[in-house]
Amino acid sequence: MKTLRECVKEAEENKVAIGHFNISNLEAFHAIYNAAKKLNVPVIVGVSEGEESFVGKEEAVALVRSIRERDNYPIFLNADHHSNFEAVRACIDAGFDSVIFDGAKLSFEENVKITKECVDYARSVTRKTSRDTIVEAELGYIGSGSNIKDTIPEGAGILTKPEEAKKFVEMTGIDMLAPSVGSVHGLIKSGKPHIDAELVKEIRKKTGVPLVLHGGSGLRDVDFTNAITSGISIVHINTEIRIAYVEGLKKSLADKPDEVVPYKISAPAMNAVEEMVESRLKLFNNME
Ligand code: G3H
Ligand code: ZN
Repeated sequence: MKTLRECVKEAEENKVAIGHFNISNLEAFHAIYNAAKKLNVPVIVGVSEGEESFVGKEEAVALVRSIRERDNYPIFLNADHHSNFEAVRACIDAGFDSVIFDGAKLSFEENVKITKECVDYARSVTRKTSRDTIVEAELGYIGSGSNIKDTIPEGAGILTKPEEAKKFVEMTGIDMLAPSVGSVHGLIKSGKPHIDAELVKEIRKKTGVPLVLHGGSGLRDVDFTNAITSGISIVHINTEIRIAYVEGLKKSLADKPDEVVPYKISAPAMNAVEEMVESRLKLFNNME
């Protein structure tokens, strides 16, 4: 079975992107997996620090691993936006396939220092166990919080400078970079800016590592396709999943107020997430 590293390489070669979707519960996990399996494309499930503390670190690893091994299917688990070395180390130890150290708010020097610590630790584990954990880091600032916002928050959307990105990758040895190229985290009611595809191209060329687009919710289809053909290999979506889930659940409760069977109440919410993920995966994998 292909590793995550191999899947990313293949996505790059084919000019498509792997979808990364966050989960907070089992329902979203199954919905994401069902959508990916239907289309037969690799998929990454992510947990932020908050999501991880709700789902459980070891539980998330066991869940993803059990499906991957049972079905021989390329589904992977990412530690999304972890804010310190200890949190990243714990996820590497627990068996995550990839980790993101998010030092975007730190100074360049501090970001380099902790990112390098994460990379060194991942490599030391690989030497001892042959478990290959991909390390991603962030440069530039795209804001935080996968929720609905009226406008782009102050200070978010500081674009990544290609020269600085090159230096950052050289100094840290990361496997993948999350640059700031126009998107911001969350669903912005007043709309998101366009992705700067030329900037994506330049950063990809200068750094030589695969690029990850964060803040996918609410972006226009054309922005995704431009970003992917310019050098994005993974796309992150979270807020849209949360909205699909909550809207589905609200409707379910309103439609059948007397229902008490949890899995029956949750089914419409799962279907809503599955539909949403399927349409994004089709777009990212050039299947429309
Ligand atoms: O890491 C998570 C993503 O970047 C989610 O961003 O909530 O705007 O979809 P989003
Ligand atoms: Zn993100």
